[in-house]
Amino acid sequence: MYIIFEGIDGAGKSTQIEIIKKWLEDNGLEVETLVEPTDSEIGVLIRKILKRPDAATDRMQKVLGLLFAADRMLIMDKLEDDKKIFLSDRSFISSLAYQEPQDWIGSLNKYVKKPDLVLLLDVDIKNSALRFSGEDEFENKEFLTKVRDNYLDIIKEFNHEIINANNGINKVSSDVKKAIASKVGLCRDCIE
Ligand code: TYD
Repeated sequence: MYIIFEGIDGAGKSTQIEIIKKWLEDNGLEVETLVEPTDSEIGVLIRKILKRPDAATDRMQKVLGLLFAADRMLIMDKLEDDKKIFLSDRSFISSLAYQEPQDWIGSLNKYVKKPDLVLLLDVDIKNSALRFSGEDEFENKEFLTKVRDNYLDIIKEFNHEIINANNGINKVSSDVKKAIASKVGLCRDCIE
C-alpha cells in the first residue's frame, strides 16, 4: 500500500504523517514513512541546490527535475514490500506540480510506482505563508498559487482525496484517517 501526502510547503504533511503512522501502528499495522527528497547523496545535493539563489531559474528547475527523478528511483525497490503501508511525504506528483514541462517530467518518472491513494493537504496560500518559516526566495505566493493549481489538476488522474488543511491539526488528522481507513481495513465510522 503506497499512500502519498502532497501539498504546498506549510500544508502540514510531516505532522500528519507522524500522527497517521502512530494511529496505524496502534492498530497493529506495519508502517514505513518515506520523505522526498530522500537522505541519499542525490537528496543531499538537491537540498543544496534548492538553497542556491538561482534555484528558481528555468535551467535549475530542469536540473532539479532530473535529480528528483534519480533520487526517487533509489527508493522504488522498497515499495515492492506488500506487507507494509508506506506513507510518503511527497512523490513524483511534487515534480509534476513544481517542475516543468509536465510531459517531460511525466516521461522521466514513467517507471515510478503509482500510488494507491493520494492525499492532497490543501491549504490557502495565505496560511501556507504564515506557517512557512523558511526564507527561500522562490517560496513566493505567485509560484505557490501555480503549484496549488497544478496539484488540483494532476491528482484527478489518481485515486485521491482533497483534505482541507486550513483546519486545526486534529480535524485534519481525523479527515485523513477517514480517507485512509477503508483502504487499510479499519473502521471508518469509528473515527471521531
Ligand atoms: P520539503 O522537504 O517538503 O520542504 P522543506 O524544505 O520545507 O522540508 O521539500 C523541499 C522542496 O522540494 C519543496 O519546496 C518542494 C520541492 N520539490 C520539488 O520541487 N519537486 C519534487 O519532486 C519534490 C519531491 C520536492
